[in-house]
Amino acid sequence: MSEKISAPPDLMEKIVSLCKRRGFIFPSSEIYGGFAAVYDYGPLGVELANNIKAAWWKAMVRHRDDIVGLDSAIFTSPRVWEASGHVGGFSDPLAECKSCHARLRVDHLLEDIGVTADEKMSEDEINELFAAHMKDVTCPKCGKSNFSAAKKFNLLVKSNLGNFAGDWEKEPVYLRGETCQGIYINFPNVLNATRKRVPFGIAQIGKAFRNEITARQFVFRTREFEQMEMQYFTAPDQEMVEYEKLRAARWQYYLDIGLKEENLKWHKHENLVFYAKEAYDIEYNFPFGFKELEGVHARGNYDLTQHSKFSGQELLYTDPVSGEKYLPHIIESSVGVGRTVLAVLTDAYTEEIVDDEPRVVLRFPYKLAPIKVAVLPLSKKEELSVPARALAQKLREADLAVDYDETQSIGKRYRRQDEIGTPFCVTVDFDTLEDNAVTIRDRDSMEQVRVPMATLIEEIQKRLL
Ligand code: GAP
Repeated sequence: MSEKISAPPDLMEKIVSLCKRRGFIFPSSEIYGGFAAVYDYGPLGVELANNIKAAWWKAMVRHRDDIVGLDSAIFTSPRVWEASGHVGGFSDPLAECKSCHARLRVDHLLEDIGVTADEKMSEDEINELFAAHMKDVTCPKCGKSNFSAAKKFNLLVKSNLGNFAGDWEKEPVYLRGETCQGIYINFPNVLNATRKRVPFGIAQIGKAFRNEITARQFVFRTREFEQMEMQYFTAPDQEMVEYEKLRAARWQYYLDIGLKEENLKWHKHENLVFYAKEAYDIEYNFPFGFKELEGVHARGNYDLTQHSKFSGQELLYTDPVSGEKYLPHIIESSVGVGRTVLAVLTDAYTEEIVDDEPRVVLRFPYKLAPIKVAVLPLSKKEELSVPARALAQKLREADLAVDYDETQSIGKRYRRQDEIGTPFCVTVDFDTLEDNAVTIRDRDSMEQVRVPMATLIEEIQKRLL
């Protein structure tokens, strides 16, 4: 019998610790003392992230006739970031705690006391708001309330790529701050190469870099991260029709990948940037509360207008039926891989009591589980390990992610697999040598059934559907 325990108060610490211990996510450069706000994905983490990216790609590209893929470069002409507004305006308000010298985001300090600082506020406006609430704000590091004025800090990460004269501070090349700019600048190429007709979309998955001031909450906010973005090009009068369809599709996607609906909600942006028609975020109930998982925004024709202006290239689309020329309007879906990984881990993490013993289970939806099946011989002896290893290899060749484990008691091995979310364990025992059958043990119900080895692959595949 199992009894579920409600979400533990230290859920975040438990997830972070499990991730490191079991090889999902490691802090970067640990042997050198660490490197803030950057993480490495371990053997299980890379499988989980790849499964998430595959599910996204399927939903966005493979299952649709109107969206194509792209993999644009991380580096672009620096003009791209001038056109996009990132060089001038992609910044966060930074203040220093005069007592402990911690650098802090003023909008986050204000958010912690229930005050919203608008993204569009100028430095002066932010400082006015900060001054009005300063007495209620305390430094999260030292608890004192003694801050410098806020300064806007640009988030673009600079590099010296291709700049051999050494004056790269004056003329830097940027690592991309978001992947979608690569989509906008390839709009004419994709249009010509595919002969797609508006409305159509371009999707891509790739790394982005931001000089985040305070990187908080594990992989929720990091300086190097991966985005999954789709930009959908519409006729001006169809923008909001397509926007509603995209919102519905994105909500359904999260249900399809197995997130619990009660952990999701829409957040409507009240203060829109001047070009935006409408903006919603899908928020997820992370261990630290509901926060943005994905943005679904209607951006008007701002992006193509800017790139047209800065590049001098005409980016107009000609309607093949009416002959009308226009700059397509864009609706976007943008979500981080790391944030999705954290949402999936949070949703899956379960503590239970089984036969008076605690059991930690990651109840991953099967298609996201990093390992699908573990093969566990009851004894290390060659008699069992040889056929068990051969069976594991057959399962691998059937394209299943397999773990093989022959150390410690079978009970401990089941718990180890539960903790990494493996849906099925296959036990090879001494009876197997007689009856050519093995036992499948189910992660969630812990039920065990005996099946012939000859039909094992089918049985596992059927259950994984
Ligand atoms: N193209 C639009 C765009 O980049 P954003 O709200 O800045 O919009 C979109 O980012 C998504 O990318 C976020 O909803 C989040 O999932 C992810 N993201 C943004 N910054 C991140 C960071 N520093 N670390 C991890 N994920 C991040």
